[in-house]
Order: sequence, then C-alpha cells, then structure tokens
Amino acid sequence: MKPIDNSTGKLRVAVLYGGRSGEHEISLRSAASVIRLLDRKRFEVLPVAIDKTGRWRFVSLSQIVRPDASIPESLPIPADAPLVVMPPNPSQQKSSAGVLLPLESGSSQKPIPFDLVFPVMHGPMCEDGTIQGFLELAEVPYVGCGVLASSAGMDKEISKRLVRDSGIPIVPYISVKSGEWQRDEKYWAEQIAKLGYPVFVKPANLGSSVGIHRVKEPTALKAAMEDAFRYDTKVLVEVAVNAREIELAVLENPEYGKPALVSLPGEVTPTHEFYSYEAKYLDENGAALTIPARLSDAQIEAAQKIARKAFSALECEGLARCDLFIDKNTGEFFFNEVNTIPGFTSISMYPKMWEATGLPYVELLSKLVDLALARHQRKKALVRAR
Ligand SMILES: Nc1ncnc2c1ncn2[C@@H]1O[C@H](COP(=O)(O)OP(=O)(O)OP(=O)(O)O)[C@@H](O)[C@H]1O
Ligand SMILES: [Mg+2]
Repeated sequence: MKPIDNSTGKLRVAVLYGGRSGEHEISLRSAASVIRLLDRKRFEVLPVAIDKTGRWRFVSLSQIVRPDASIPESLPIPADAPLVVMPPNPSQQKSSAGVLLPLESGSSQKPIPFDLVFPVMHGPMCEDGTIQGFLELAEVPYVGCGVLASSAGMDKEISKRLVRDSGIPIVPYISVKSGEWQRDEKYWAEQIAKLGYPVFVKPANLGSSVGIHRVKEPTALKAAMEDAFRYDTKVLVEVAVNAREIELAVLENPEYGKPALVSLPGEVTPTHEFYSYEAKYLDENGAALTIPARLSDAQIEAAQKIARKAFSALECEGLARCDLFIDKNTGEFFFNEVNTIPGFTSISMYPKMWEATGLPYVELLSKLVDLALARHQRKKALVRAR
C-alpha cells in the first residue's frame, strides 16, 4: 500500500476533533474555527473526527465545506466518512510523518499520509495526556503540551501542587478520594468545615464546570460531594473566593529556551452565581468577556508573571490558557487552573486575547504548528537507545 502523493507541497495538518469527553460539542466548534483559519498558503487541512464511542473517521473537507465555501460553526461527523486507524509503527512511513489507514477491509480508500496532528479536543481522553501519549507512540509531531503537562494540567489538584511549589498562591483546598469519603464522611465534613463555608466542590479531572457546586452550608455538602464523585474518584473542596476571574493566553516562545510569551489579560464576568456550565454554554448572556481586563499596569504585570511561571512550572509546551482569581477584597491573585487545549472558537478567550495583544488568529495557528515541528525535531535528535 503506497501512500498517495502530496502534490501540493504543503504541510498536511490532521485536525483531530470531537473526542470522547463531555466537551465533544465544544470541540466541534473549536475545530471549525481552526479548520477555517489554518493558512491555506502553507497548510493542507485533513479533518479527522473521533466520535463519542472513540471511532476515528477521516472526513474529507468536501463533506464539511458548504456550497458557498463557508465552514459551519459546528463541524459535522458524517456517518459515511471512512473509519481509519493511526498505526504506531512509523518506521513503515518514508514520505510522511504519519499515516491513517482505512479500517474496513476491501475499502477503496488509500492510506492517508499527514505531516502533523493538531488536536482540538477538550477534556478527559482529549486534553489529559492520553491522546498525546498515543501520538508519541505514533512518533508524529503534534500541537500543544506533551504527555506530562497535559495530564498534570488536567488534574486540578496536581497542577495546584506544582504551581504552589514554584511560589504562586493557590486557594486553600482539601482533596478527597471517593473511598476515603465513603469510609468516613463525618471526618471529611469536619475537615471541610475548617476551610469555612461557602466552598467550591469540584471533580479533579473535568472541565466546563461539570459537576461543580458552590456549597453555602454544611447541610448541602453531601449532595454536592456525591454529585462530584459521579464524574471522578477524586474531588477538590476549595475555599470560595469573592473573585474577579482573569485569564491569560500563554504561548511557548518560538526562540527556544526563552520565557513563554503571555497575552494581555482578559476578564470573565459571569452573570450567574459562578461561571457554571449553564453560564458557559446554555445562556448566551451567561458571562461578559472583557479584553483587555480592566487592571492597573502593575496588576497586568503581576498576572502575566504568574501565568508565565505556571506555564513553566507545569512544563507546558505550545500553548495553555492560565486562569487566575483576583480577590475583590484584598486584590490578591490566586492561580486557579490551566487549560492545555483551551476553547478555540473565534469568540473564545485564548485567540481573542492574542488578537488583542497583536497576534492575529491565522498567525497564531501557524506559530503553533511551527512550535510542534520544532519540538518534534528536538525529540527526534535525542538518543533513545544504545
Ligand atoms: N475557589 C473558588 N472560588 C470562587 N469561584 C470559584 C472557585 N472555584 C471555582 N469557581 C467558579 O467555578 C468556575 C469553574 O471552576 P473551574 O474553573 O475550577 O473549573 P472548570 O471551569 O470546570 O474547568 P475548565 O476551565 O477546565 O473548563 C470558575 O470559573 C469560577 O466561576
Ligand atoms: Mg475554568
């Protein structure tokens, strides 16, 4: 089976979208923007969908592009798009970094070679190091954080511990495993009471505010914990800060070894009690986004310093969005979390903050691709075995 020719001379970017997480639908929107705005002068775009059951499909652009040449706001996953697999045996490939093979025997589809992968999927099994590990095995270049930063960044507790270790303030919290909670709810309720109500209860490894509760009093704790344990076996309970929510876009420095580049900060002001799932996705007016955030120059500098430090503490590569709280009463900053594959729609904070800082979306995507290729070259040059 010979791969088809790449007659265009362009880099073939496989854009991975969909995924098995609860944030599948958001990925369909993020990837639509990425596919729309990847520079066609440099790149050939190969959309590859992962459906909710984990099947991979090669979607041809002609199945996505509308008759008027526009790309829909949310990408489809056509049921007749051929099923494909990515084999972890790159040595067979001479003319490309990787290849997608048709799964169905007797399929008329030829192998599909590509040069790198741009994963545009959010949440567990997408952003948490699993896909990244898979791409490492396949030895293909890919955009964004590697395995370690992806998985550490996904875990709200591990990321806090690493960031705290580099001297960045975090909100006081307690982490509880489901087994510990089941064995001694009373003990944990007492520990949590010591933090002081209200508290935030959240699954450790999830996004989009799924399973997150603001708990005002001890009587409401049990139901909140039980709901959070539906989504993860580890739950974080945090002191609720009366906070403004500040986000920053971080990009690996194209000059290898130099500190990461940080955008101007943006602010999210939820109109709900907090930035809940409803406020994020179900209510059009769920939050006001202000870019740049109304902060003093000194505050902007402090926020950027924290974001840069957190990116480095978590060993991020490529990109990450760093979310901070600023205490309305004391003005103190706290690190809340990183998102290693942040929302990427044209109205998402990550690309918007870069635009406000002078880096247009199209150029941002090109930089991310270049960073992915550069990292791959560095890793390929390493001695792996003697
Ligand atoms: N300790 C806290 N104090 C005040 N508000 C909080 C606290 N923790 C969470 N929140 C509120 O809940 C929202 C969601 O929490 P968080 O950002 O930790 O998780 P997430 O948004 O689900 O993760 P992701 O951004 O990866 O989707 C925050 O944006 C904020 O509005
Ligand atoms: Mg968040």
